[in-house]
Amino acid sequence: MEKYIDEACAKFREILLSQVERVEKMKSGASATDFSKLDKIVIGLAGGDGIGPIITDEAERLLRFLLADELATGKVEIKVIEGLTIENRMAKNQAVPDDVLAEIKKCDVLLKGPTTTPKGGTMESANVTLRRELDLFANVRPVCVPEEGIDWTFFRENTEGEYVLGSKGIEIPDTLACDFKVTTNPGTERIARAAFEFARANGKKKVAIVTKANIMKKTDGKFSAICHEIAKEYPEIEAEEWYIDIMTANLVNTAIRSSFEVFLLPNLYGDIITDEAAQIQGGVGTAGSANTGSKYAMFEAIHGTAPRMIEQGIGDYANPSSLFKATELMLRHIGFTAYADKLAKAMSICTETEKKVICTGDRDGATCKEFADYVMNTIKSI
Ligand code: IPM
Ligand code: MG
Repeated sequence: MEKYIDEACAKFREILLSQVERVEKMKSGASATDFSKLDKIVIGLAGGDGIGPIITDEAERLLRFLLADELATGKVEIKVIEGLTIENRMAKNQAVPDDVLAEIKKCDVLLKGPTTTPKGGTMESANVTLRRELDLFANVRPVCVPEEGIDWTFFRENTEGEYVLGSKGIEIPDTLACDFKVTTNPGTERIARAAFEFARANGKKKVAIVTKANIMKKTDGKFSAICHEIAKEYPEIEAEEWYIDIMTANLVNTAIRSSFEVFLLPNLYGDIITDEAAQIQGGVGTAGSANTGSKYAMFEAIHGTAPRMIEQGIGDYANPSSLFKATELMLRHIGFTAYADKLAKAMSICTETEKKVICTGDRDGATCKEFADYVMNTIKSI
């Protein structure tokens, strides 16, 4: 037992040192990329696993259609990234193999299909690795249900909390297991500022800070305190304090849910509640996700690889809406606002009002390709 405890203490010391180093790096943070100043914007495309390549192929077709002029003039380049597959990652025993990461870093932004995360073991999720390696600290997830007055934007901290050391826990065999949760000052300040800046720029009146600070006193306590500190810089915006348990209830409380606007949360709560929110919008297949940092940004569906669909041979019926929403977020991020608006409008027609071609995720619905054609034809008619 003593041996295990000594080993764990030594490991904990290393963990603390690495996290303090991360804090120092954050403090000297890079300034944000100004896409309007780039001669060329390189968009990386990675298919991922399961239904990933199927929905990503359609997103690529959509992108090539929308950006035809920019691709022709060389203002935009689409770079297909190979090797972000579970087979290659397992073979190299790396969540994101070095050569794949190097290719990704040559791009300004990445549009990514879902990737398989092995359960247990020590291999980290490719998402978590990419978010850390590219320092994508803000996970922004919009959810809208116009007929119910719901217009939510979630700002989920994306690089720390339970995730940062998720594969570095400690175990004493047959006795106990221990994971770590980390909240840092600069890590919290930057996500809080991103949420309040968004609220200010978009005329939002309230930001809901959501934690479990009554229980996770150190980490969530710090998150909450720092968010309230940053809130003082935005006196026109009300900072509300909520606990995550009651907030999950609030989202299904039709009497009050439309009053929420912007949510600001640590990593794990943000992960969980955004699936709930997406379900309210129509399912996880309907929500896009932006992972943004100062230099890089990655855009993806919020759902997984749907292995059951592949096993049942119905992968071609996957709904690409989530990745199309991510494409819209990406176009907006790199400054192609008019294309983003067009795509958003077409998606609203195709999934909310007209609904002529519907993906059900099964053979009774449209294929991924048919739905993509429908969206592109709708864009042409706008
Ligand atoms: C998400 C996903 C990821 C997460 C997984 C795939 C690691 O659920 O983006 O919400 O937990 O962040
Ligand atoms: Mg999730």
